[in-house]
Amino acid sequence: MRLRDFGGAAPYDRGMDIVIAGGHGKIALRLSRLLAERGDTVRGLIRNPAHAGDVRDAGAEPVVCDLEAAGVEEVAGHLPGADAVVFAAGAGPGSGAARKDTVDRAASVLMADAAERAGVRGFVQISAMGAGDPPDPGRGEVWEAYIRARGAAEEDLRRRDALDWLILRPGRLTDDPPTGRVHLAEPPIGRGEVTRDDVAAVIVALLDAADVRRRTLDLLNGDTPVADAVAALRGDGR
Ligand SMILES: NC(=O)c1ccc[n+]([C@@H]2O[C@H](COP(=O)([O-])OP(=O)(O)OC[C@H]3O[C@@H](n4cnc5c(N)ncnc54)[C@H](OP(=O)(O)O)[C@@H]3O)[C@@H](O)[C@H]2O)c1
Repeated sequence: MRLRDFGGAAPYDRGMDIVIAGGHGKIALRLSRLLAERGDTVRGLIRNPAHAGDVRDAGAEPVVCDLEAAGVEEVAGHLPGADAVVFAAGAGPGSGAARKDTVDRAASVLMADAAERAGVRGFVQISAMGAGDPPDPGRGEVWEAYIRARGAAEEDLRRRDALDWLILRPGRLTDDPPTGRVHLAEPPIGRGEVTRDDVAAVIVALLDAADVRRRTLDLLNGDTPVADAVAALRGDGR
């Protein structure tokens, strides 16, 4: 059994129990692998039953739940016993403005409502740099809808007292190999790239650092080892 320092609270001797919304996403599968390898319990909410095998191969339990069709009771029914939800869903490239709203905003609100209903306090949202900023009109209406949806989902979380939320805003995602080194700080930190493997590693470290909550953090690849970047947030007196 592992003993984990859970943010200065009483240590507890079990792995974490994490539910990932959008469990077949590229970051979600990487995160599932990292968590499962160290003995945590992971459930991955997916909308396509054909994705169940991939989720299982990553070490997570697949749960079919379409976040654009389910109600809050159904979603809450998948959350009992969880320590935290990670919102890793998104309408993705190729989707139109309507699905930016139904997934990137509304599914996040639904997950947060369900977490509150189920008594799950932890909520890590994978957002995007620039969320909530005035969208650059030159990038078109789908981009505008995306930035607005992400901004609205962030604002929804910030209004919630019952959740220990954390908003993580990666830069442009790549599938390059992990570097283990990041720049993680409150915005603005400039623009750039970050590998999906490094995003997953940062989320694992942030899940462990339960005293780093109610923060909005930008994330790029950088010079600081992941553990040190998260430790610096714990020690900055906020
Ligand atoms: N691309 C970038 O450079 C970038 C930069 C910063 C932030 N982000 C954000 O980071 C997020 C995670 O990145 P990623 O690369 O891991 O994304 P991804 O591979 O596109 O994963 C998103 C997942 O959400 C799922 N999903 C969509 N609609 C759903 C629904 N109704 N119910 C349940 N699941 C649903 C998708 O499932 P299906 O396969 O069934 O559609 C997919 O597995 C993205 O959503 C994006 O907004 C992206």
